[in-house]
Amino acid sequence: MNRSQASPATSENEDLTLLPVPVDASRVAQALIDWFPDAARDLPWRRHRSGYHGLVSEAMLQQTQVDRVVPAFLRFIERFPTFEDLAEASEEDVVASWQGLGYYRRARNLHAASKMVVESFGGSLPHSLEDLQSLPGVGRYTAGALASIVHGQPAPIVDGNVARVLARLATHPGTPGERAFEAWAWTLASDLATAASQPGVANEALMELGALVCTRHDPDCARCPLREDCRAHARGEPQLIPPPRRPVTRKTVHHHLVLVRRDDDVLLIRRGERGLWAGMWEPPAVESSRLLDPEDVIKGLPARVNALRAVATFEHRTTHRDVVFHVHHADAGDPRTDSEVRWQPLDRLGDIGISNPHLKAIALLPNSDRNRS
Ligand code: ADE
Repeated sequence: MNRSQASPATSENEDLTLLPVPVDASRVAQALIDWFPDAARDLPWRRHRSGYHGLVSEAMLQQTQVDRVVPAFLRFIERFPTFEDLAEASEEDVVASWQGLGYYRRARNLHAASKMVVESFGGSLPHSLEDLQSLPGVGRYTAGALASIVHGQPAPIVDGNVARVLARLATHPGTPGERAFEAWAWTLASDLATAASQPGVANEALMELGALVCTRHDPDCARCPLREDCRAHARGEPQLIPPPRRPVTRKTVHHHLVLVRRDDDVLLIRRGERGLWAGMWEPPAVESSRLLDPEDVIKGLPARVNALRAVATFEHRTTHRDVVFHVHHADAGDPRTDSEVRWQPLDRLGDIGISNPHLKAIALLPNSDRNRS
């Protein structure tokens, strides 16, 4: 019997001990490969495949949406066109060119990885999964994406989108992130890559399908090339698979920032090498788990100021934290800190590493004319 004619199982008659159902890896891989050329978005790193473009794009895509990566990728490869250019650049320049993407550790890792490619791999992206995973910032997923997409090797990839597609295909009852589910998903992804005539195309099609069609809340099964093989579609209500992950515990922290202007410069201090926004520049700040009184902010600041004027408050969400920024203004401030300090021209904020929320805070600086009036 043709699998697509099998009578749809319902949740009532489904025997959970028989789940997940087996997947025909060759059929699914071929359906993905046939679907991809017409369905794929025209993305800049897909126009010209190279190890360098692959590594830069995968680093950017690790925690950032495609729409935001596209302009950043184009700017970055114009500024640093090759592994050698990136390897020779200063860390400050690389981090500044990452502006707007957030999670700046990725920029430092990419910089270190390009040095390693130049020094240890003769300037070409290595082929084996083991060598790829020896590069800073390259884990199992990124190594699989690079090995398959750049080098055409049958290497698996599983990220959140792929896990969802696979779970639905097989009506897997588990939850992504759980050890048993992850082991199953990586095995199936491996079977798919091995069965595929073009593993890189099959993998990128899986990513694309998860991003555009088999979405979490609103899967568009009518447009899906895997519809006939998908057990969740046959059963109905594919959006119920997989169950939601346990939410991460979030912490709220308060960052009290003080904007100090001297002519057309703003006072910035470099953050420590660890933690959130490591090594980035910010206005003098006091961090705490609760909102502080102005006197306590003044006492804790790494700059001497006399009085504060509140300018605005806004929130910024990171993966694990809600950061509440309390932005103040002070007329003058002498730095008192062991950290690096600089007076940065306001029209050259893009030259150094400053996070998006800090740029947003600095944009709230009252202009000097108004201050004088
Ligand atoms: N996410 C991670 N890698 C990707 C790629 N190569 N194309 C689109 N989205 C991705």
